Amino acid sequence: MCGIVGYVGKRPAAPILLDGLGKLEYRGYDSAGIAVCDSGKIQMKKARGRLKVLSELTHDGEIFPGHVGIGHTRWATHGEPSDVNAHPHFNADNSIVVVHNGIIENYLKLKKKLIEKGYKFISDTDTEVIAHLLDYYYHGNPMQAIIKIMHRMEGSYALGILFKDHPEELYAVRKDSPLIVGHTRDGCIIASDVPAVLKYTRDVYFIENEEIVCMRQDSMEFFNVDEEPIEKEPTHIEWDVDAAEKGGYEHFMLKEMYEQPRAITDTFSPRIKGREICIEELAMSDEEILNIKKIMIVACGSAYHAGVTGKYVLEGMARIPVEVDLASEYRYRNPLIEEGTLTIIISQSGETADSLAALRDSRERGAKVLGVVNVVGSSIAREADNVMYTWAGPEIAVATTKAYSCQLIALYLLAMKFAQVRKTISDTELGGYIEDMKRIPDQVEMLLNNKNRIQKFANRYLAARDVFFIGRGIDYAISLEGSLKLKEISYIHSEAYAAGELKHGTISLIEEGTLVAAVLTQENLYKKMISNMVEVRTRGAFVLAVTNEGNHEIRKAADYVIYIPETNQYFTNSLAIIPLQLFAYYISVGKGCDVDKPRNLAKSVTVE
Ligand code: AGP
Repeated sequence: MCGIVGYVGKRPAAPILLDGLGKLEYRGYDSAGIAVCDSGKIQMKKARGRLKVLSELTHDGEIFPGHVGIGHTRWATHGEPSDVNAHPHFNADNSIVVVHNGIIENYLKLKKKLIEKGYKFISDTDTEVIAHLLDYYYHGNPMQAIIKIMHRMEGSYALGILFKDHPEELYAVRKDSPLIVGHTRDGCIIASDVPAVLKYTRDVYFIENEEIVCMRQDSMEFFNVDEEPIEKEPTHIEWDVDAAEKGGYEHFMLKEMYEQPRAITDTFSPRIKGREICIEELAMSDEEILNIKKIMIVACGSAYHAGVTGKYVLEGMARIPVEVDLASEYRYRNPLIEEGTLTIIISQSGETADSLAALRDSRERGAKVLGVVNVVGSSIAREADNVMYTWAGPEIAVATTKAYSCQLIALYLLAMKFAQVRKTISDTELGGYIEDMKRIPDQVEMLLNNKNRIQKFANRYLAARDVFFIGRGIDYAISLEGSLKLKEISYIHSEAYAAGELKHGTISLIEEGTLVAAVLTQENLYKKMISNMVEVRTRGAFVLAVTNEGNHEIRKAADYVIYIPETNQYFTNSLAIIPLQLFAYYISVGKGCDVDKPRNLAKSVTVE
């Protein structure tokens, strides 16, 4: 996600900004920029590409002598990576400049109102709306302008702001996106994350939601949204830089697992308006949605597993036939594409060679192609007819967690939208699904907080040689993902099986003590699953069950049970995957594997 740095003090700001942004590079970005206030003028440089480009453009910051500034590394969410979409963003006369981390969910509505008032926009970003909104409310008092926009913006933001006619001041404010501030020897510094400030201070103030900070060279004042001064205590940071980059987590994978509630919220929240599902980027009329005859979902790895879940949800809710293909198979099987086919290419990186080839093949055969992609401006995002982004933020760990969870959310939203238009679900049912979706982030958080119990269980299986994941229906999809997570980061052989398939061969592999993870979240399949669990248990297996709270029948067929909270039949994968992610993670840690960079694997497979 984006990185923010700001400084006000005795020293030139630009070199400090560039240094701080360099410490935030690990967060992933595609462009960067800085703005510095000097003798009543705001100077700015920003560019697509690595920080090196910006350092060269600014001669390592030497061209900007000012002592107050803000800087930004951008991970694109709205608007492709480009010079013009890079931050900082500014108002028409360059008197107000802002950097932003987060997503302004109602930016299109605000942008429309500002355009009606004569404002002109040059970028596609939600952040530029903030600059013009500040301009609209600014009449000489920065605090009042900031408080006004806080009442108008919906979504998440951490902001660094400069006002030309307040050249000695730096402002910061946040809601749902992290922001810290601290004193340096000779001024004040703000940043999105601890690594950017450790060189200057280990005593930082974590800004809380809707708190505003006004900083000058020798003062730092905190206010609430009612402009009342507040007292804050600093926190002393013990972390080293490496730990700080992971937000104090031992690995990026664990950090990203814990980012899932936020990522899931960021992915669905802008697309649910009351009782409506609004997927602007789908760019399909109701008539086009009614005319969809078949959906083909094509992807690789975990994205493919999300697609298998998508099949059950889209067919169950919207009653549209769905085929799911591995991209490496699809591209060579001469697929039959009839009129009314919608192909959905799912990809976190948007650069997976097989998935990109499948996209091109599908388009050539006349299908309309929708990308479900995490990296803005990636090849698949650019070549699809339309793209629905999963706003998971940059994913550093090779084993995907938060991006996969956001792919599930995107597929649920598509199913709800299609079902709503095709009237295959009632308004009441849709309302229920919307309420269930809103509960997912807290439910995921609750399951993540169960990590100690999972870790204890995982430590019993560090020496496992074969692990089997079994499930029926939508639970088979989650078994696929649970199995891949385990094998790719712990190097333990694992297989996922449709539970009903075991007796057709695989059950011969079950020995005394073999671990079998049974996923059963579909009430109509409980009995069938329990008989499969009994089958393997009588042959010596140790059965771990992942099932719904309240399914007490399970005790007679499982040796160890993990419960997931109540949700509807379609959303259970979003919950059941959490203990399986944790299980894989703690086995990998226990075996001393390289969790974030497993052997033989790359984050993005850009070759066949
Ligand atoms: C997921 O944990 C794996 N690292 C891998 O299977 C990945 O999902 C697959 O390579 C697809 O990548 P993509 O989503 O970037 O296209």
